[in-house]
Amino acid sequence: MRPKYHITAKSNWINDPNGVVKFNGRYHVFYQYHPYSLVWGPMHWGHVVSDDLLHWEHLPIALTPGDEFDKDGCFSGSAIIKDEKLYLIYTGFIYNDDPEKIIQQQCIAYSEDGIHFTKGGLIIGKNNLPKDFAPNDFRDPSVYLDGDKYVMLVASRRKNGRGNILKYESKDLLKWKFVSEVLPIDSSGTMIECPDYVKDLNLLIYCEQNQPVEGYMHHNLHSNFWRTGEFIFNQFFTRKRGMIDYGFDFYAPQIIKGDNIMIAWMNMWERNNPSEKYGFAGSMTIPRKLEVVDNELIQTPVLPKDIEFSRHLNEEYEEYVKVGFYKIEVNNLTSFSLEMRKGEKHATSFELINKKWVFSRANSGEEIVGKETDEDSLKGIRKMPYKDINNHVIYIVLDEFSVELFVDGKSLTSQIYPDEQDDLLKLKVSCLEGTITKYK
Ligand code: FRU
Repeated sequence: MRPKYHITAKSNWINDPNGVVKFNGRYHVFYQYHPYSLVWGPMHWGHVVSDDLLHWEHLPIALTPGDEFDKDGCFSGSAIIKDEKLYLIYTGFIYNDDPEKIIQQQCIAYSEDGIHFTKGGLIIGKNNLPKDFAPNDFRDPSVYLDGDKYVMLVASRRKNGRGNILKYESKDLLKWKFVSEVLPIDSSGTMIECPDYVKDLNLLIYCEQNQPVEGYMHHNLHSNFWRTGEFIFNQFFTRKRGMIDYGFDFYAPQIIKGDNIMIAWMNMWERNNPSEKYGFAGSMTIPRKLEVVDNELIQTPVLPKDIEFSRHLNEEYEEYVKVGFYKIEVNNLTSFSLEMRKGEKHATSFELINKKWVFSRANSGEEIVGKETDEDSLKGIRKMPYKDINNHVIYIVLDEFSVELFVDGKSLTSQIYPDEQDDLLKLKVSCLEGTITKYK
């Protein structure tokens, strides 16, 4: 039992996508991988490749920990192409029983064929960290080219303080100079992870841990965030900000530069993984095409290219389906209620209730329990803001074990574990005009 369109490892544990890149015409996704167990452990970089972002082929493990600087793990990082070589820039992790003595430093590896990698050692050591930042929380380098220099953003934590992002610059990817703290104010969460930046969209994304709940935002203990704005004197000034995804399972997103396609880990820390019984734990989201419109992030899922049908949407639509991609266009919407993977005992719902989008996996099937203690989390509920506009565009991406919902560019992603025989999709809408398109 495996999802059809979502990346998983052949077996065992995966977390963050790493080094997402288009190299020699193919899409590469690396990922945090523990090949020997269903739970997190010494991190390797697993590797898959695709032509269409929907069908993925497994390649050999790209990075294995155990060298001087990555003795206990090759943590998250990014990829960049230089002189036709593919470089991976990642965090070398050195464990210690005393958390204060853990060391995280930035390392490099390179490849000519995009499959076999040679390690090049340390490029930013703990001595190249500003004095008031902690060497035990210094990770997840994201590298991009800005004019004639390379820029690296690294997640960091002020000693006895909170998260920020540090900016470094280099001419050659090997020697790096510290430039600035990127966020004018430290995060209100305890630590930042996995920053990424797209220059042509003026878009900064990152994750935060233990952020206080704010309206519909940060109900997960580990949450995600976007900001649009600009770098002024090496600090990022924000125009608009928001959650990237409002669901239960979305973390550590990364963007393929140029194509501006984002992929995230479709899971969450500190929860049980019902998929363990099928031999895997963790998968990636469906890739999403990103745009910025009026300084707001807009996401559209990558879809199969053929259309199975496109038809007028009556008040009710029903189909037996477990895996499918749909686009729904409606205007003057007054009600919307969707049930997925419905059977005698279960259903997963997504409804418009009092001008809020409300998702519930309370009755989806096998339970997923986390450490969150707020009311919505305990009830299996996630909410997403409603945009009061005339024409709405909604995408549904259903795969084995997951549902991804996109409304007017916002997204809500969650895992579900219904019974095999729960297979009805039931949609009820009231609108002036509507169409439903199914892709194959
Ligand atoms: C985010 C993260 C990263 C780290 C990696 C370790 O999910 O904690 O900060 O590099 O996972 O696997």
